[in-house]
Amino acid sequence: MNALDRHLALVGFMGAGKTTIGREVAKRLGRELVDLDDEIERAEGPIPELFARFGESGFRERESEHAARILERRTPAVVALGGGAVTTAAVREALREHALSVVLDVDVDTAWERVRGSDRPNAQDEAHFRARYEERRPLYDEVADARADDVDGAVLAAGGVEVAPLARLGELVGAEAAVVADSHVLGIHGPAAQVALGERLAATHTLPVGEEAKTVASVERLWNELRLDRRGTLVALGGGCTTDAAGFAAATFLRGVEWVAVPTTLVGQVDAAIGGKTAMNLPAGKNLVGAFHWPARTLIDPALLSTLPERQRAEGMAEVVKTGLLVGEPLWELPDAELVRRCAAYKTAICIRDPHERGVRAVLNLGHTFAHALEAAAAYDAVSHGQAVALGLLAALRLSDQPDLVGEVQRILDPRPVRVDRERAWAALRRDKKGVGGRPKLVLLDAPGRPRHGVELPDDDVRGALDALIRD
Ligand SMILES: NC(=O)c1ccc[n+]([C@@H]2O[C@H](COP(=O)([O-])OP(=O)(O)OC[C@H]3O[C@@H](n4cnc5c(N)ncnc54)[C@H](O)[C@@H]3O)[C@@H](O)[C@H]2O)c1
Repeated sequence: MNALDRHLALVGFMGAGKTTIGREVAKRLGRELVDLDDEIERAEGPIPELFARFGESGFRERESEHAARILERRTPAVVALGGGAVTTAAVREALREHALSVVLDVDVDTAWERVRGSDRPNAQDEAHFRARYEERRPLYDEVADARADDVDGAVLAAGGVEVAPLARLGELVGAEAAVVADSHVLGIHGPAAQVALGERLAATHTLPVGEEAKTVASVERLWNELRLDRRGTLVALGGGCTTDAAGFAAATFLRGVEWVAVPTTLVGQVDAAIGGKTAMNLPAGKNLVGAFHWPARTLIDPALLSTLPERQRAEGMAEVVKTGLLVGEPLWELPDAELVRRCAAYKTAICIRDPHERGVRAVLNLGHTFAHALEAAAAYDAVSHGQAVALGLLAALRLSDQPDLVGEVQRILDPRPVRVDRERAWAALRRDKKGVGGRPKLVLLDAPGRPRHGVELPDDDVRGALDALIRD
């Protein structure tokens, strides 16, 4: 359930922040913000006057017509609805048909503080205001596909991503679910996932640990084991290797079944389980086969990270630092739960803007062109991905002429130059699949929070930056 191809409707009581949050969410998703009240006022005049002239029921009729027109527009937008719009059955129906509805939660005291003294017709008397709040609550519950109380929450909801305890898993799947995990994760978090699924649990399947999960043989074994019908849900519980492989199995089994990603590593929670890319490796290289298949839901429980070994955590920190640089804030300083939520929301927004990686999603490759080259030169053995990304960030930041940020990355991630063959690394960099005609397209950072993608630089500069990451 997501807003990839539909409107994201923000609903909630007056004072919930629909317009303020809507403005920021629209910016992040690269969509137009359509404010229902503004549209009505532009077409018909001030709302208090319409209330006075036609009474509330007359106003609601007009409001419903405007809402229907807006929601029937083809181009997905962020639509902020006036607090009372959901009282009309036709509006609720149009929301169900055309939008993912996110209810912005606000308690009645906060809402009253925010709107008292305004000219809103339903905010003139406190007792009336409170009665309206209670009256409308069930209607918000009826339309709510998801709930949020801030910008990140609304963005995450738009991507079907929920940051919540694993115990919620049962609510996010259909009638039958098959769990897929590697044997290690299954031993640690499998029982909690199985309990959360309860009667919905149809079967449990095991993938090999690590990249071995992403081989054709492992995925073929999984295809053969699966007994789900097309209404079934595949639950991928684990790190990026599990979600990549199980997600690909879900994309292809019976021509596509729903899947729910439950990432258990930091890499998974801030990166791999978000955005709908699934993949398998071939002997010729990593991630050469795959499909875009957005998970029906992604359930992120930061508490699952407590069992993660330090080495694995470091892998994820490289992506956290990358995201912090892209956002322009030191996200790496936040406690786990907040850090994961912020990073996940950033990636979700970029991927909703560009689900098939045709444009802006390229910014997520900051440092990765160099990282892939180092990994390929090391035959994916001597250099870990996290280490390679940390080094790649140094190269990208040096080419961006950002010495302070280079120092910051060195301080946080402490990447050390690696011993790989320089010619092999250079050849791999020129082959990078995101480049065109042998010239890599780089992501540089004009300033913290201001990435620029598709940058071509002279070979000598790029080669110099790559060489600085390699020791003899
Ligand atoms: N699809 C995407 O957009 C995307 C993005 C980034 C990375 N990836 C892929 O992700 C993969 C790497 O993912 P990863 O780093 O999560 O590796 P992983 O899936 O191999 O997991 C790493 C190890 O941690 C263990 N583990 C997982 N969760 C644990 C927990 N909570 N406690 C203890 N141990 C736990 C696993 O058993 C495994 O041994 C790569 O194949 C990469 O290509 C995909």
